[in-house]
Amino acid sequence: MEKIGILTSGGDAPGMNACIRAAVRSAEIQGIQVVGIMRGYAGLIVGDLAPVDRRGVANIIQRGGTILETARCEEFKAREGRAKAFAVMQEHGIEGLIAIGGDGTFRGAKSFADEFPVKVVGVPATIDNDVPGTDYTIGFDTAVNTALEAIDRIRDTAFSHERLFFVEVMGRQSGFIALEVGLAGGAEAILVPEIPTDIETLCHQLDHSFRSGKRSSIIVVAEGDKAGGAFSIANKVRERIKMESRVCVLGHIQRGGTPTARDRILASKLGVAAVEALLKGQDGCMVGEVKGDVICTPLSTSWTGAKTLDGYLIHLLDLLAH
Ligand code: F6P
Repeated sequence: MEKIGILTSGGDAPGMNACIRAAVRSAEIQGIQVVGIMRGYAGLIVGDLAPVDRRGVANIIQRGGTILETARCEEFKAREGRAKAFAVMQEHGIEGLIAIGGDGTFRGAKSFADEFPVKVVGVPATIDNDVPGTDYTIGFDTAVNTALEAIDRIRDTAFSHERLFFVEVMGRQSGFIALEVGLAGGAEAILVPEIPTDIETLCHQLDHSFRSGKRSSIIVVAEGDKAGGAFSIANKVRERIKMESRVCVLGHIQRGGTPTARDRILASKLGVAAVEALLKGQDGCMVGEVKGDVICTPLSTSWTGAKTLDGYLIHLLDLLAH
């Protein structure tokens, strides 16, 4: 293999740059030329790409976002779009592709590899951590720490005013961020898509805590909670209990910023592993880290497999919250 392409796709995640750096540098050591593809599959379709070498990825390990930029590309969901992308790869002699992103990125990669003779390896990067085949995705640790810092600040004002705060964190389909932030931030409760939210039970719990002397509380709500977002849940609670409350939606703040050491290290490991997988002919897979070991799983596992919240962390949160 002489030339590979690399792209970032879907929502950006802190650590994507560290992964690009690792892949580019390890490929160069193996004598492989790397082409950086802009804006994910959208850039591949229109041929927006340029060679990138080890100096080109200097001074990016600490930067959030992605130097290659990213997009959610509708055109690539259709075979016609993928055919255009394949034509660009052929024109530029690109034999392999490293796709950094989440399950949406890997769905596209799998269809692409099924239809055309392209070798694709995925690297899991999304702040949501909702990708099976890896214990953690690149960007999750940074997002958790960013949200945690915000919650610590909110706790100060919640205490001073004796208020109840509903803090909404990202996680359209999953509560991984909410769970870790909730436990580490000493939240009263977490509301996540994986567990049905019972407003009556929540109100009862809050009432009980306040009767026992608690004067301020933080409820962490994942944006995808089935009972609605933080605003809607706060309104339902206000109808039932008399407590002054406020809502804070953290939003895209969680997606940016300097990656933590853990994210940079994970990104470095997986960037190198992706190149190695391509060289070994282990394509059609996603590299991930499970219990400290770097492994490859089929791309399809990222949407057919199950990744559940850690029950012990939920137990700890319940045990220590009140
Ligand atoms: O990348 C995942 C994620 O951050 C989700 O948690 C969130 O729902 C979504 O992306 C937001 O996407 P966008 O930036 O396109 O609004």
